[in-house]
Amino acid sequence: MLQFFQNILAAIEAMLVYPSLVRECSLPPRKSIHDILRSSQPTLKSLGQEVAELFTAPINPQRMSRMSSRLQRRYLDKLQVSTECMLPSFNVTFPNGHEAGTYLALDVGGSTLRVALVELSGKSRGVEGLKILQMSVSSIDNLVRRLSGTAFFDWMAEKIADMLAECPKYNGRAAEPLPVGLSWSFPVEQTSPRGGKIQGMGKGFCCAQATVGQDLGDLIVAACRNQGLNLRIDALVNDSCATLLSRAYLEPSTSMSLILGTGTNMAVHLPVSCLGALKVQDRDAAWLSQAEKVTINTEVSMFGKGVLPETRWDDLLNRSHALPNFQPLEYMTTGRYLGEILRLIVAEAVETADLFDGLFPSSLEEPYSLDTSLLAVVEGDKSPNLATSGAYLQKMMGLDQSPSAAEMKFLRIVVESISRRAAAYIAIAIHALWAVERKVSSRAEASRTTIACNGSVIGKYPGFRSRCQADIAEMIRVGADEEAQESVIVLEMADEAATLGAAVAVAIGEGGQ
Ligand code: GLC
Repeated sequence: MLQFFQNILAAIEAMLVYPSLVRECSLPPRKSIHDILRSSQPTLKSLGQEVAELFTAPINPQRMSRMSSRLQRRYLDKLQVSTECMLPSFNVTFPNGHEAGTYLALDVGGSTLRVALVELSGKSRGVEGLKILQMSVSSIDNLVRRLSGTAFFDWMAEKIADMLAECPKYNGRAAEPLPVGLSWSFPVEQTSPRGGKIQGMGKGFCCAQATVGQDLGDLIVAACRNQGLNLRIDALVNDSCATLLSRAYLEPSTSMSLILGTGTNMAVHLPVSCLGALKVQDRDAAWLSQAEKVTINTEVSMFGKGVLPETRWDDLLNRSHALPNFQPLEYMTTGRYLGEILRLIVAEAVETADLFDGLFPSSLEEPYSLDTSLLAVVEGDKSPNLATSGAYLQKMMGLDQSPSAAEMKFLRIVVESISRRAAAYIAIAIHALWAVERKVSSRAEASRTTIACNGSVIGKYPGFRSRCQADIAEMIRVGADEEAQESVIVLEMADEAATLGAAVAVAIGEGGQ
């Protein structure tokens, strides 16, 4: 009798879950139904475990060290030949901290445009020696990101005009052009300290589509002229180099920088001798004779393919990206993408594991509609059953009800896995650059390296910076380089560093570079 009911139950279960299976083949025995159910219908718990396993399995010091070694070889190759990454700037002089003056700085980031008047008055005054007198901050939303060609520069020029209208002394309308420092958070092939050719832009920006190869400084100056402004770009630097310069102005031991916000990048000061001849073939004799060390914009976001393990969600993100494989490290670590990775996992969990009762929130239908700040809220939540972030999620995603405790537990595991891996991958990229710097500078003894950090993820994501620093320390400890094992790498926040650094770049240039 019992067996009879069990068979009926099994048949109903099969019809509900696999109607086509019932139609196409004879009913399998009860045991195999359960196997099928287990393997193809994950529960939230089992999917959470799978996500955690896939994201965090590569994270142990030995495996990370091996990944760092492979990245080091790629960095060294690209220092020889590449027009896309390991880009030497024109900057061969580090600030001495005594440069002085007031400059207009433009900082074009992935999510904000900052227009600022910056005053340099000497490092002896501490942080006061490098300060923003006035600044306007404009958010760069998707509409602005999609402006193509010169329309983006017209938008920028309007914002610059608005800001300068508030500065009677530096209004940009004098006969003598107003000197400007520009920090650009995209790759640029520099052709002089003040000019460079626009290259492909990530972060969802369309502006490069019609402007690739044109001079960035010229485009901005022309757009400003249409607003009646008389500006001259005196220094053009990538935001990673700007961050390095601003910190070095106050603290000369700073030799590397890390940006980790909407995008990621690092800059490093390296001997010119480690660059392949092709990299500096267009530099004039005066530059070549003067240059011992040069600041390099690594464009590190472009590294990592085939070295850093990827999951099926990374694959999905990459395949539907406008620029597949362009910035593998960035796609797994930055503010623009962490939210998207979560969105893709949520989509799978809704479909297969009944998350949100199997209903995908309409607010998440658009790609990139899940903001990375939401991950930070969930991860930083200390309330019982994550009720606080649950209520936040309900509001942000427009859910009918607050997610259940089990759903919140699942989301927390996913969020932790995504951010844990991001911190580890950034640590690997940093460790590899630090090791290359030691190698090409022939530095054998243990050392202390300060890395100037800027960006919302490294600065604000709960626990991110400390995890990253701990991972780097572990890799140094297990590394083959025994003399280096006492070395210390410190990740130090440098606020508004890209904006300040654009002004420092102008000041160094005026110092007769
Ligand atoms: C992107 C850009 C790079 C920039 C970084 C940080 O990856 O390619 O130039 O420095 O984001 O903003």
